[in-house]
Amino acid sequence: MPTTCVIGAQRGDEGKARIVDLLADEADVIVRYQGGSNAGHTVMFGGETFRLHLVPSGIFRAGKTCVVAHGVVVDPPVLFEEIDDLRARGHQIGKNLLISDRAQLVMPWHKILDRAREEADGKAKMGTTGRGIGPCYADKVSYRGIRVCDLYDRGWFEERLRLNLGEKNPILEKVYGKAPLHFETVRDEYLGWADKLKPFVGDAVGFLHDAVDAGKNVLFEGAQAVLLDVDIGVYPYVTASNSSALGVTAGTGLPPKAIHKVIGCAKAYATHVGSGPFPTEDEGDEGQRLRDIGREYGTTTGRPRRCGWFDAVAVRFAVRSNGIDGLALVKLDVLRGFPKLRICTSYNLPSGPTRHLPAAAFAVASAKPVYRELPGFDEDVSGVRRFEDLPANARAFVKAIEEESGAPILLVSVGPSREQVIRLDGHA
Ligand code: IMP
Repeated sequence: MPTTCVIGAQRGDEGKARIVDLLADEADVIVRYQGGSNAGHTVMFGGETFRLHLVPSGIFRAGKTCVVAHGVVVDPPVLFEEIDDLRARGHQIGKNLLISDRAQLVMPWHKILDRAREEADGKAKMGTTGRGIGPCYADKVSYRGIRVCDLYDRGWFEERLRLNLGEKNPILEKVYGKAPLHFETVRDEYLGWADKLKPFVGDAVGFLHDAVDAGKNVLFEGAQAVLLDVDIGVYPYVTASNSSALGVTAGTGLPPKAIHKVIGCAKAYATHVGSGPFPTEDEGDEGQRLRDIGREYGTTTGRPRRCGWFDAVAVRFAVRSNGIDGLALVKLDVLRGFPKLRICTSYNLPSGPTRHLPAAAFAVASAKPVYRELPGFDEDVSGVRRFEDLPANARAFVKAIEEESGAPILLVSVGPSREQVIRLDGHA
């Protein structure tokens, strides 16, 4: 059984957790490899809803190991809130959760700086989740980060902390007018987290090497999405990690050839939270209708999501840059009752038409979407389980998305529950 990576092929919130939860049934190991508590992964089953930020979505299946690899930035209070909630609701969390000793820690100043910068930027703000993600990754690449393993040598940890506070406190006070952080308070808090983390911490790189060598079925759970990837997304309106399949190797320590299959998740329309250009956004009644029917409000922040039409320029870009083998198309049911369905097939830019995603955010902002219009469907599709039982117009729409995106559709979801899926190839 090959290793599989599940990523968002749009701008995030494509229901990746749902697909991971389905595939986790056949997996031995489920791995989060980038991002942090900015992710909000919702899994619904048995009449219950679970919202995960750091724990991999495979945690609900018995006999699996869930790994938080070193590409993830770990925020201990968020992690333990999640673990406590899962335990309180009857889920066993113990040896089934492995946290990489190499993972970077989100520290209190990361969250304060993230929010302070957003506040200071006013209208120009990025619209981050305020979870300290950017500042934490910035410290990682400027050699200031504190990793999970650093907590287990007190002298080393204190030195790293002192170095950081010596630099961060003047910024907090002088640039942002915030209160400074006290060395002892942060030290004691994090030494407390060190004790709580200890049973879960281990050499995730070695564990994953062994798993792959043993031919285990490993499932990589991407967070955010291709268009938010720090290198290939619509910079600067991105998140701070490689939130595409590109992040798997750096974030796990596995070689590129260890990824055998990439599945992209895409909604049958498009959404975006935060600032930045969004060519297919519909700011009118139809956008509002997508938001209402699709319940498009952020899992992490509760913010209303911007809504619009399926952008095949963006998804095609995701397919090509990630080698997406197949798409999981979600929320087809939300489109019921729209008289016309639209797919953006190319952009008109001031410089001329293009089928490719431009590099510059200002160029994406100037893009006028060129739409292929298809007739809508009025039938309730939420109970459909076979592709041939979908209304003809819904089938034609799915096929048009496949054609325009350049990847086969493996699965279509028609409702929020585990069983509300149509599998097109027998297995995803
Ligand atoms: P950050 O990741 O909190 O720094 O936010 C940077 C950008 O990524 C903002 O536009 C966020 O709205 C977006 N973002 C971060 N995490 C998610 C997610 O899980 N889904 C959708 N957008 C996200």
